[in-house]
Amino acid sequence: MGQDQDLSAQRRPNDRLRRAFAPSRRSAVEPFMVMDVMRAAIDRESAGDRVVHMEVGQPGARAPQAVIAAASAALRDGYFGYTEALGTRALRSRIARHYGEAYGIDLSPEQVVVTTGSSGGFNLAFLSAFDHGDRIALATPGYPAYRNILVALGLETVDIETSAESRFAMTPEMLAAAHAQKPLQGVLVASPANPTGTIMPPEALADLIAAARDLGIRFISDEIYHGLVYEGAAETALKSDPEAIVVNSFSKYYCMTGWRIGWMVLPENLVRPVERVTQNLYISPPDISQRAALAAFDATPELESVKAGYAANRKLLLERLPEIGFDEHAPVDGAFYIYVSVRRFANDSVEFTRRMLAEAGVAATPGPDFDRARGHGTMRFSFAGTEADTAEAVDRLAAWLGNSGSTVR
Ligand SMILES: Cc1ncc(COP(=O)(O)O)c(C=O)c1O
Repeated sequence: MGQDQDLSAQRRPNDRLRRAFAPSRRSAVEPFMVMDVMRAAIDRESAGDRVVHMEVGQPGARAPQAVIAAASAALRDGYFGYTEALGTRALRSRIARHYGEAYGIDLSPEQVVVTTGSSGGFNLAFLSAFDHGDRIALATPGYPAYRNILVALGLETVDIETSAESRFAMTPEMLAAAHAQKPLQGVLVASPANPTGTIMPPEALADLIAAARDLGIRFISDEIYHGLVYEGAAETALKSDPEAIVVNSFSKYYCMTGWRIGWMVLPENLVRPVERVTQNLYISPPDISQRAALAAFDATPELESVKAGYAANRKLLLERLPEIGFDEHAPVDGAFYIYVSVRRFANDSVEFTRRMLAEAGVAATPGPDFDRARGHGTMRFSFAGTEADTAEAVDRLAAWLGNSGSTVR
């Protein structure tokens, strides 16, 4: 008996500790499925299997030569410190100049904030612009981290379902209807979008921005895929609304995902709040990446040749995927994604992508990452890899589905 008593006495404090150290409720966000698929793909590669990566939206190309050279020079210098929280003055000025060159917009460097990837930018923007419980509208299908960051920060997300009818874009009517149900404080739009790659024509974007302004809803524009346009034109939200929050990054067009460097353009009254939040949350973006990124805007010929590779991949996929059976997809205007229906083969895209990885050695991202309600019928391929890899993936899929055909279901 004495022994039993001793054991339970030992257990009790541990149980209490376990309860005390449970994870927070706000951390119970959905996983970012694409990262889970990437992990499964790397597991297979570690076991010696060949995998063609079409899951992660990440350029296969290295950062431009000039960026590498700038980073090498910085390494030779050898000293890296904190920078000003809002980023180095040199990089903020260079980004402001880019708006003149790319969009004909005269922008003050004071409105530019350098961030730790656009992901860091979203955290800072949401924290500085919104309060706990505010409601933010997001188009679905859409990039999953928007929702998950907002939820982790205690904001409410309002999914606005889009379809082929509106070219997967949110319309002013959809926004007004959601606002009428219960007022929204913010709306976030990406064009070109992820996962669809679809672009809102400049007039459609301007109309949506005007509607948001009329309704008193703050507009956030994710312009991370600007520069990667094959059809139509991607306009910056700043053209229609100088008060918009614009989020951008060196990750995609500039091929610098791992450098974790991006930027925001903010209305004047948000700059100081973002500075205070940055000082406390991150101190500053990485020094070496800021020095390297300075060179990125002058690497256009090299970056355009990388983009020509994406364009070739896009052409191949648009030709071959329908032949293989992926015959429905969103318009691939920009970015480096094709969002296809898997319905010819399966009702459950999570299981379908799992089998595709296991049996065909091709990794792609299942639709529920982007659209919890309807994504079981869809899947996203990223074509940011090499032309050789894309051709290999197509051949592997043709062989796999040719053999198994509709029996995959
Ligand atoms: C639409 C969109 N926004 C933002 C990001 C985040 O990119 P980063 O933090 O590397 O700038 C991604 C990454 O895939 C994305 O697709």
